[in-house]
Amino acid sequence: MSREKDFWVEFFADRRNGGHRSSAEEFISSEAKEKLFHLDGGKTLLDFGCGAGELLVYYSPEYEKMVGVDFSASMLEEASKRIMERKCGNISLIQADDKTVWEKLDSSFDRITAAGVIQYLTYQEIDNFILNSSNYLNKDGKIVLFDILDPRLYPLWKIGLFSQDTGFLNILRKAGFEFKNMISARAKNRPVNILGYSHSPDKLKKIVNKHDFEMTCVQSMYYEYKFHAIISRPDS
Ligand SMILES: C[S@@+](CC[C@H](N)C(=O)[O-])C[C@H]1O[C@@H](n2cnc3c(N)ncnc32)[C@H](O)[C@@H]1O
Repeated sequence: MSREKDFWVEFFADRRNGGHRSSAEEFISSEAKEKLFHLDGGKTLLDFGCGAGELLVYYSPEYEKMVGVDFSASMLEEASKRIMERKCGNISLIQADDKTVWEKLDSSFDRITAAGVIQYLTYQEIDNFILNSSNYLNKDGKIVLFDILDPRLYPLWKIGLFSQDTGFLNILRKAGFEFKNMISARAKNRPVNILGYSHSPDKLKKIVNKHDFEMTCVQSMYYEYKFHAIISRPDS
């Protein structure tokens, strides 16, 4: 396992929620509605990096069969509780990562999705993820990657450019703080940021095209610095 992967496994080992901007049901339900719009149907769905199942339970009424996958036992424990509470009988959970998940699946899917997850994968891992997904995607299926950190907007958000209290001194202070964090993380050989890595839409598009898919990017409605990638076969 790479040093980065070790870091994320440890980071999520005791996490119990997906770190949404708000954990209020009203907010999560609106986020889920936006995501269902982009998922655009299908009967079966694989949610990679499902976390505590916060979105999964909202997807549940729209699908016949769903599988949630995550490498964090604590996240899956929360997901399992949530699924029981909401009586979502159509969701099963698998503990696995981006390499081990494929051998644990016994069917293919109409939709393969991941929300707020690919920031923890390198470009090479994303390439492998798309390749493996293509083998588990039904005809006319879609891969929908939600909430990818946009490298053009993410640094601006980090220094507070989108916040209410934007002022020159505040921005300068935050930029200094981020720079200090970056140096310290590099020195310790750790990811610079706990939100993970941003991924360029152009580079993602090249990976996707390599596997004979096409990709459309859409701005996230709820996070100024994130975008969604909707990936499908050209003829579907
Ligand atoms: C920010 S949370 C998002 C959870 C969920 N998708 C949501 O939106 O509520 C990211 C999730 O991805 C999982 N994750 C990250 N990298 C992973 C990997 N390589 N394999 C499996 N799960 C992974 C983490 O354990 C965590 O639950």
